[in-house]
Amino acid sequence: MKTRTMAEPYKIKMVEPIKMTTREYRAAKMREAGYNTFLLKSEDVYIDLLTDSGTNAMSDWQWSGMLLGDEAYAGARNFYNLEKAVQEIYGFKFLVPTHQGRAAEHITSQLRIKRGQYVPMNMYFTTTREHAERAGGIFYDCIIDEAHDAANPFPFKGNVDIAKLQKLVDQKGADAIAYLSVAPCVNMAGGQPFSMANLRAVAAWAKKYNLPIIFDATRAIENCYFVQQREPGYANKPVREILREMMSYGEGMTISSKKDNLVNIGGFLATNNESFFTKAKEMVVVFEGLHTYGGLAGRDMEAIARGIYEMVDDAYIASRIRQVEYLGNRIKDAGIPLVVPIGGHAVFLDAKKFLPHIPQEQFPAQALASALYVDSGVRGMERGIVSAGRDHATGEHHKPKLELVRLTIPRRVYTNLHMDVVAESCIALYEEREKIKGLRMTYEPESLRFFQARFEEL
Ligand code: F0G
Repeated sequence: MKTRTMAEPYKIKMVEPIKMTTREYRAAKMREAGYNTFLLKSEDVYIDLLTDSGTNAMSDWQWSGMLLGDEAYAGARNFYNLEKAVQEIYGFKFLVPTHQGRAAEHITSQLRIKRGQYVPMNMYFTTTREHAERAGGIFYDCIIDEAHDAANPFPFKGNVDIAKLQKLVDQKGADAIAYLSVAPCVNMAGGQPFSMANLRAVAAWAKKYNLPIIFDATRAIENCYFVQQREPGYANKPVREILREMMSYGEGMTISSKKDNLVNIGGFLATNNESFFTKAKEMVVVFEGLHTYGGLAGRDMEAIARGIYEMVDDAYIASRIRQVEYLGNRIKDAGIPLVVPIGGHAVFLDAKKFLPHIPQEQFPAQALASALYVDSGVRGMERGIVSAGRDHATGEHHKPKLELVRLTIPRRVYTNLHMDVVAESCIALYEEREKIKGLRMTYEPESLRFFQARFEEL
């Protein structure tokens, strides 16, 4: 039987008008923005798929919680509500709130990495690697090879390759490793999940060497949905239970609440390791704010606490991921090259195959993201050579195998008709792809260059 249509498990009671613009207008705006979609004004964007970070629509329950913000400097009631949500849903005892995810990464990296130690990650994430490196750590990619191949349809491309971990231990010794940084629904791999079986095996391996796992749990619930859908034994388990099992294999987590947690700002660090918690509490007051607010208003913590309970609703997470799949399937059915399987938070166009006439040094994904905006006002983001940055030692570009444009879907924000507009624009560009030109970088910031770099057309 054909699967029946599933509509959103919510209705819309407030709307935000968006501006329709002409192609000429957008071409001028793109040029002014140096062909970097991060430098466009949001008001000039029609459908904003730049990121799923902080772009979520909050529910009436979350908004009403905002009015219950206790804005005391210390010990706000909302901190305790958040602590309870973290304990109940993620299963970690100790909580340190931060203004967003990278602040939790900063604290974790500074406290847990000794200069010269390796930090294995299942693929890098920009801010995670940056903070590890600033703390003197060395990023070590331990994701399975399949993850670096956009066309490989393996269902768990976020899996950790234990042989790669073993090789590192054999060569350098376990003491040379700070901890394992494991991310669910790996962002840079295309939003690809790991399987619970893989995580269980990684945890057993890590235990042998006394190496802790610290999750980047930013998109954990999306990973849990894939486990429920794809992994034997999980079909009848609620995502809430799957999440508790997943987190039970780790010593702690950092998170950007701006994704899974359905809010616009916030993050935290949570752990069962009391001495780490104590040190993190000392550090958060230097960089973020007192340990019961960590740079957040009381109302923000309340919204996160409520978002955490809402994200574990099975109907919500199914509708969220099915919308991403809807967009992906429309693009795929038109024969356009993209990362498969379709990921949890975004559809990733394969810019190398989309624009074979543009060499990687001419930034094909950057060029494709720009062309998409000019065509339809849809804003995506480069995830390729620009995002990968340079090797700090040699000064050369990192040349990632994946050269992608990310079309990231905010949670509970757009309808499937918006998705149709996006798909039609991708199809129109694909039909005239040879007209798209490569770019030259005219300004390059030293770190995280993709945010502010500027380009011109060749
Ligand atoms: N980890 C992952 C996997 C992320 O995707 C992000 C942010 C962070 C950590 C950092 O969190 O932004 O709250 O400081 N990703 C955003 C994105 C920026 O668009 O993918 P943050």
